Amino acid sequence: MNRRDFLQLAGMAGLTAAGGCRTMEQIFEGGAGTVPWSGCNMAGFRVEPLPVVRVGVIGVGQRGPGHVKTLARIPGVQIVAIGDLYANRTAKAAKLVTEAGHPAPQEYHGSDEAWRGICEREDVDLIYICTPWLLHTPMAVYAMECGKHAVSEVPAAVTEEECWQLVSTAEETRRHFMMLENSCYGYNELLALSLCRKGVLGDLVHGEGAYLHDLSDSKLTPEDTGGYQGRWRLEWTKQHTGNPYPTPGLGPICQYMNINRGDRFDFLTSVSTDVFRMPQKAARAFGEKAPEARHAYYRQGDMNTTIIRTYRGRTILVEHDTTSPEPYSRINLIKGTKGIFADYPLRVALEPSPHRWMDDQALSELKAKYEHPLWQKNGNAAKQRGGRGGVDYLMNLRLIHCLRNGLPLDMDVYDAASWSCLVELTERSVLKNGKPVEIPDFTRGGWKTAEPLGIVNV
Ligand SMILES: NC(=O)c1ccc[n+]([C@@H]2O[C@H](COP(=O)([O-])OP(=O)(O)OC[C@H]3O[C@@H](n4cnc5c(N)ncnc54)[C@H](O)[C@@H]3O)[C@@H](O)[C@H]2O)c1
Repeated sequence: MNRRDFLQLAGMAGLTAAGGCRTMEQIFEGGAGTVPWSGCNMAGFRVEPLPVVRVGVIGVGQRGPGHVKTLARIPGVQIVAIGDLYANRTAKAAKLVTEAGHPAPQEYHGSDEAWRGICEREDVDLIYICTPWLLHTPMAVYAMECGKHAVSEVPAAVTEEECWQLVSTAEETRRHFMMLENSCYGYNELLALSLCRKGVLGDLVHGEGAYLHDLSDSKLTPEDTGGYQGRWRLEWTKQHTGNPYPTPGLGPICQYMNINRGDRFDFLTSVSTDVFRMPQKAARAFGEKAPEARHAYYRQGDMNTTIIRTYRGRTILVEHDTTSPEPYSRINLIKGTKGIFADYPLRVALEPSPHRWMDDQALSELKAKYEHPLWQKNGNAAKQRGGRGGVDYLMNLRLIHCLRNGLPLDMDVYDAASWSCLVELTERSVLKNGKPVEIPDFTRGGWKTAEPLGIVNV
């Protein structure tokens, strides 16, 4: 009997363990999109409370140390191991742990594979991944196979296949996987979430999110003068088009709209501009003859625009531009049948005066009434402890709180997969002149019954 026959037979015979899940023995190894449901849905998944969350951090370049610093100051966290390619980076990050009054973590470095040792330790509950994009899924999958919960920086995956691997591995191992989309914890994003959940905007119709952040200099900076390791972000622009970083703008809109919890993505269409600015910048930095100064060096157009239609008939616009000179923005716009919330800068217009933005006083009153409880309770601590204006602190605080209290996490593996799959699907659409591309239902039907996110009730 081959694997497919077995799974069909298992499905027909209703092979299930207690709680409606097939046991590990009843499930064959593997995990791609062609694999039928492993037997367990992860929506609302929770584990026994962990009294202390023992963390292993992998990747301490520009991003990782900030997380180490915030995690080390959250009660109930022990950072037991830190890994990176480079010893000087693990040493620097380990110092952040000891400076916060904790024992020194063990350091793993010196090879591409040293990180596996962290996943294999018995005394680790959570693997925290802050490496370049291509390593997020392989590291998270291995961590879950070793029995650990895993979280990774954004995007969680760079192909549809990787998204399915995350989903199937989480379902089969019954481990949490969360993507660290910190934009979901922004003050304005959580304010908008409160407004949406409390019906202030009416039935939601359309959202807009973006990652508009001029990283042209950072992309070109060599690693030895403070750039990304191996200039991984520039390498991506050489090889790919589409939107490689959809989740900061898209994540909050999905939470407003209850995507995967009552609605789901249906299809998308995506277009990109040509390449304009990177060769000009490179010519100035490295000279006209440098390879980076040629247009043909790049595949990724400066600006990408994507429109998603949801199964329940709503639309989401997602933009990406890390090349053009402009102020940072995630757009963060949501409108419904009773009004509109727009950000950068914050504006709100509501019935019965929807044709003009609220004045400053009305906006302050609205904020006072609908400020999210997470910011009400922890706003001051978040601002003091920092990390992108406090959002990293709040995200890590919630992650640890949920694990220590046996609660479902704020973003589950289906969110990670459906938000991250845009990396490949936008590229597919762009390469076909904007042809619609179907977006898979990673919940395998679970979106119809999954409960809305509980974050407003914290
Ligand atoms: N959400 C946010 O606000 C935000 C902000 C910045 C970066 N990020 C994300 O964080 C991630 C890391 O970005 P960064 O700016 O720190 O990049 P970086 O290049 O500065 O750091 C990556 C680190 O990973 C290490 N690494 C690479 N391969 C490894 C391996 N095999 N084993 C162990 N370590 C390895 C590198 O040595 C490096 O220190 C990216 O996914 C990025 O998109 C998110």
